[in-house]
Amino acid sequence: MSDGVITFNSSDLHEKGDGLRFAMPALGPHATGFLLRFEGKPYAYVNRCAHVPVELDWEHGKFFNMTQEWIICATHGAMYAPQTGHCVVGPCQGKRLSPIPVSESEGVVTVHLDQF
Ligand code: FES
Repeated sequence: MSDGVITFNSSDLHEKGDGLRFAMPALGPHATGFLLRFEGKPYAYVNRCAHVPVELDWEHGKFFNMTQEWIICATHGAMYAPQTGHCVVGPCQGKRLSPIPVSESEGVVTVHLDQF
């Protein structure tokens, strides 16, 4: 499944801030992924709850819960660890989000859809 790579400016990815969404056409015409920064590091996942295949964000780019410690699914409130994508609370407990390899260097964050 190869979509190449997508790059973002590091300065656009804010600590525990809004996620940056991107298209994942290899997964379907409306499929998206998202990129977050948590404790300094970038993480990317497929934007799809592990419980029911719906997008997670309650508003475009809003992935963090109120305390900004967990990724939350807007539909039924499942919470995921930002570093691993594992579901810690909710109907998907024990499952995880699908991670996408990410790297960051010299002010550029690269999402490696080609390695997904
Ligand atoms: S659809 Fe995400 S928790 Fe149910």
